[in-house]
Amino acid sequence: MEKITVSAPGKLMLLGEHAVVYDRPCIVTAVGQRMFVTLESLPDPLLELEAADVKVTGYKRSFAELGVGEIPRGAKFVELAVKNFIEKHPLKNGVRITTRSEFSSLFGFGSSSASTVCVIKGLAELTGTKLSNKELFGLAYKTVLDVQGKGSGFDVAAAIYGGTLYFVTGGKVIEPIALDELPLVVGYTGVKADTVTLINAVAEKAARHPELIDGIYTQIGNTVDAAHAALKTKSWPLAGELMNFDQGMLEDLGVSTGKLSAMIHAARDAGAWGAKLSGAGGGDCMIALSSPGTKEAVSEAITKVGGQVIDVATNVEGVRIEP
Ligand code: PMV
Repeated sequence: MEKITVSAPGKLMLLGEHAVVYDRPCIVTAVGQRMFVTLESLPDPLLELEAADVKVTGYKRSFAELGVGEIPRGAKFVELAVKNFIEKHPLKNGVRITTRSEFSSLFGFGSSSASTVCVIKGLAELTGTKLSNKELFGLAYKTVLDVQGKGSGFDVAAAIYGGTLYFVTGGKVIEPIALDELPLVVGYTGVKADTVTLINAVAEKAARHPELIDGIYTQIGNTVDAAHAALKTKSWPLAGELMNFDQGMLEDLGVSTGKLSAMIHAARDAGAWGAKLSGAGGGDCMIALSSPGTKEAVSEAITKVGGQVIDVATNVEGVRIEP
């Protein structure tokens, strides 16, 4: 095959952030905004990259140089994904990769992990290499760890499997949750947050209060397990209440902000079953679980306190080859 386009969804964490870095479960849903990656064979062993969304154009590296020296921020995940793939499955030909995102990398929907998954899946298809989802997860998760050092891999799992997943650190458990709807309102704070900075801030707090923070992780894990059961039975008010518990514990970890809290309280006051931050905190997005009857009031309340409501489909299909 000479040319192929692969797409993968972004993600929204529903419950369990931070604790999932430390061997606890989380729940994540794949979102409708997708990353598209086109891969074309080149005669020489070379990576060429066009990723205009992250300001990378005309980028070229020989396969021998992959991962060596300074790599522009926008090229890191793709370059290391190619490196990790060819270390396992050597390639004679080079590859030209073009990425296009349907969502802004600002929202924290996981554009990096989605493009990593697309690149590895695309290279396998392009070269006729059989790759199970488990192997795809392994190579993509390694790439994320190579770039950012930390992370549970929940975003990689969402990009591969899609839907809504019960997930444990490093993919120890990846279990789809059958849902035909997920009534969420998503609000963006307007503030871009850096995941690794927040993970480090929580780790620093854990170093000072090891038992307290470990207890919080365990309680977050228990909350996730209870929410897992509530979602399976569509017990929305209970799931919302559990999201509120989780938010309280994220406040304890110190990752909420005044803006996030304002948006979360506005959503609850407007009738949401529950609301919490989604992702590492420090900015990015909040989510509110809301009945169809309160959705509009919840959206208005979030907007009134300065949030931007984003229209996102949830529970969507995972990585796929585009026609
Ligand atoms: O900032 P996001 O949306 O990538 O979410 C990070 C969630 C953490 O649990 C803090 C990190 C992780 O990899 O699970």
